[in-house]
Parts: sequence; structure tokens; C-alpha cells
Amino acid sequence: MSEGIITMAYLGASILFILALSGLSNQETARRGNYFGMSGMAIALLATILGIVTANYILMFACIAIGGVIGLVLAKKVEMTQMPELVAILHSLVGLAAVVVGFGTFLDHSVVFSGVEKTIHNVEIYLGILIGALTFSGSVVAYLKLSAKIGGKPLLLPGRHFLNLILLLGAITCMVQFVNAADDTQALNLLLVMTAISLLFGIHMVLAIGGADMPVVVSMLNSYSGWAAAATGFMLSNDLLIVIGALVGSSGAILSYIMCRAMNRKFLSVIAGGFGTTSSKGADSSASAGSEADVQAIDAESVANMLLAAKKVMILPGYGMAVAQAQHSVFEMSRKLREAGVDVRFGIHPVAGRMPGHMNVLLAEARVPYDIVFEMEEINEDFPNVDVSIVIGANDIVNPAAQEVPDSPIAGMPVLEPWLGKTTVVLKRSMASGYAGVDNPLFYKENTRMLFGDAKSSIDEVLKNL
Ligand code: TAP
Repeated sequence: MSEGIITMAYLGASILFILALSGLSNQETARRGNYFGMSGMAIALLATILGIVTANYILMFACIAIGGVIGLVLAKKVEMTQMPELVAILHSLVGLAAVVVGFGTFLDHSVVFSGVEKTIHNVEIYLGILIGALTFSGSVVAYLKLSAKIGGKPLLLPGRHFLNLILLLGAITCMVQFVNAADDTQALNLLLVMTAISLLFGIHMVLAIGGADMPVVVSMLNSYSGWAAAATGFMLSNDLLIVIGALVGSSGAILSYIMCRAMNRKFLSVIAGGFGTTSSKGADSSASAGSEADVQAIDAESVANMLLAAKKVMILPGYGMAVAQAQHSVFEMSRKLREAGVDVRFGIHPVAGRMPGHMNVLLAEARVPYDIVFEMEEINEDFPNVDVSIVIGANDIVNPAAQEVPDSPIAGMPVLEPWLGKTTVVLKRSMASGYAGVDNPLFYKENTRMLFGDAKSSIDEVLKNL
């Protein structure tokens, strides 16, 4: 394949990836966006295999087959609720790839660089390994946290900011010495020391982040994995990898910014760690927000009657709807209510569930019309006019403690405000707290009713009574 054709193919693939990203920004065009992305990737792979690779075909196809089979099995097996942890572990692979390519490039002496070119080449290798290593270790810790294999509580070492500073200074010092290293052995040793520093930094950074701030971390690691891929592109002199890496890196950074705004956090403070941790200094975040005597349970039949008598109903889904796979029943309930003349709307919190857009994906899967699905800021002011809000397996995103309790780990996070409406019905299995581990005063309010049980069973029961 001539160089011109490869360049054209890479250009076409880059355009398709940009179209994919723009398609994914809207529910109605998301499916088309995915097709653009798949086509771009197919073109990129073909051009690379036929045009760039010149040897080791058997090894390459064997690796593609093994990786492809693992990917296929994982994609078929993984539950929607395990998606964030899958994404986190996939990010770790991008980081690991950057580290391996970095060391491979360093040890490859087939092209000899000198002068400024050599310095630039070495800096590329150094930064590639640095970003790759911290993406790798940070993503592994994020995976362990998201899959609850380790606790979600932030690890706050004394003088942790100082420790971060020392690690940063260590990495910079190693870089200066690496670029000016007298021989390959010294340079390799410096690379190894820096890799250890980066791995440590990645672990420390994610361990220090509070449970409620994990959404920011996931999107931040997404961004890092993009920069790691771009760094790999520089090392391999592959333009497409640089473009894709930059696209992922910058879109991840934008997503992190949006997440921070949604959580009312400052980006730098989240990275420095320690958010969602005020409680560890004093108040007990898991302490009960009310007395059990105030909890008012309700049955499905009464909920059905209440819904039929309502004019305006707001459905607020959360992580529990995903766990219960209740979205189809929820859609059926909304359809029946609309047929009965009730104005039904859905309110979506930006960090509901466990990944960006989690609820939108589930509602789209259940074919809920887009025009009755609203973002939090679009509907929060309407709650005083709502007759019944149904909270389906949500907790942190409807927790008034974010506004009422200044030292709460979720203090300052914008939340949906169903308590301002006439009645709120909460569907969950117990009085357990949500992801952030904070008790919810909403459950004890006078105008709140609790419908205990699995969300799908509860909605099916309500449906029977409608
Ligand atoms: P959560 O606060 O985690 O609350 C979910 C609730 O669902 C739990 O209290 C649980 O109570 C209930 N539940 C679980 N399984 C259920 C079932 N089968 N049937 C009925 N209820 C069930 O979820 P949320 O309100 O959606 O808030 C999201 C949280 O996750 C935030 O803290 C957010 O920061 C964090 N987070 C979000 C993301 C993104 S990007 N969205 C990523 C990582 C973390 P019971 O056990 O009593 O049933």
C-alpha cells in the first residue's frame, strides 16, 4: 500500500472518529455515532495491517485473535452495571500498552538519533511511559474501587500533598538526568525509577479520592488513556494514533470538567484528593439522618392509586434501576399513566448510576421517548408543581443532605429536589445508604413514602394495580 493511500485512509478514519464523537453527544444520533466509530476503526486497522506492518504477521494475527476473543467474551458477559469497572480496566490496558511501547522504543536501536532529535525522542519516550504508568496503576485502583474489591473510603495519608510534590519533583529530576544520561544502562535505570514513581502516583491519586467523586476520576482516567495513546503515537511516529489519542484525551478532559461542574467540585481539588472526606474528621457520614418511627412504608396498590390520581408525575431513576433491570417495567408504567392522561416526565441527574449517561442508555433501551426525558437543571425548578415523584433505586442524587448538612461528604453537590413536590415515593430494598455512604434525610420526610423491595418487582406490582 502506498504512503499516499495510507495517509488518505488515516485521514478518513480521523474524520469518522470526529463524527463518532459528535454523534455520541446526543441520544438520537448515538447509534449512528457508534457506526462511524466502528467504520473508522476498521479502516484504521486495515490501513495499518496492510500498509505499515511488514513482518511478524502470524504473531500479529495470533495476538489479534486472542485479544478479539477475550473482548468478545467480556462484552457478551458483562452486565450493564459492571460497565464502569470494565471501562476502568480497559483504560489500564491503554496505559500498559504505552509503557510497553515506551520501553520497546527505548531498547530498539534500529534508528539512531542525534542532537535535538535525540532529545525530543527521549522526551517522547519518557512522557509516554510516565503517563502510561500512572494511567495503568490509577485505572487498576479505580477498577478495584468500582467493583467493590477494595473499600471506597479515601485513603488520606498525612502530608499527602507533600508526598505528591516529592513524587512530581522526583519525576522531573529523573527526566533531566535521563535526557542527559551518559549511557544506556544509566538511562534504563532512570526510566525504571520514574516508572515506579508514576505507578505510585497513580495508586495514591485514586486511593485518595472520595466515593462520591469517582465519576470525575473515571472520566479523568479516560482522558489520561487518550494522552497515553497520543504519546504512543509520537513514539511510533503514527499520525492516526496521535490524532485519536488527542481526541480521546481532550474529550475526556471536557467530560471531567462537565462532571466536576455537575458535582460542584473544583477539578484540581478532586485530583489532589480528599473530597468527600469531611466526615472522617468529625461527623459520622453513615449516621442515621432521622428516626425509624418517621419512615412511612407504602404498598404497591396505594402507589398505583396515588399515581392515577396525580396530574404531574416525575420519575427519578438511579443505580438501583440498573441493578434491578427495571427500565422496561418503568417504561410500561409511564406508558399506562400517559394513556390515562397523566403528565409523566423523567428527571436525570448527571451522575446517576455508575457512568456518564447510564440512565439515558437504559431509558433509550426501553424505548422511553426522548422528549419526556429531562436533565436535572431543566426540571429542578418544576418540583413544587409535581404531584408524585417516584425515585427508582436512586439515593445520593436525591439526598437533601447535599444542601442541608454542611459537613456532609456530598455537601455542595447539586441534587434533584423531589421533596419540594407534594409526595415522593422511594423504591428501594432497605434503608441502606448509596454509593457515597451517606444516610438520606429524604426517607424520613413527612411527604415521603417508602415502597420496599426490588425495583422491578415493585414496579411490576404497581403495574398490575394500574
Ligand atoms: P446510589 O446513591 O448508589 O443509590 C442506589 C440505591 O439503589 C441504593 O441506595 C440501593 O438501596 C438501591 N438499590 C440497589 N439495588 C436495588 C434494587 N435491585 N432494587 C431497588 N433498589 C436498589 O445511586 P444514585 O442515586 O444513582 O447515585 C449515583 C452515585 O454513584 C453517586 O454517589 C455518584 O457520585 C456515584 N458514581 C457515579 C458515577 C457516574 S459517572 N454516574 C460513577 C461512579 C460513581 P438498597 O440497597 O436499599 O436497595
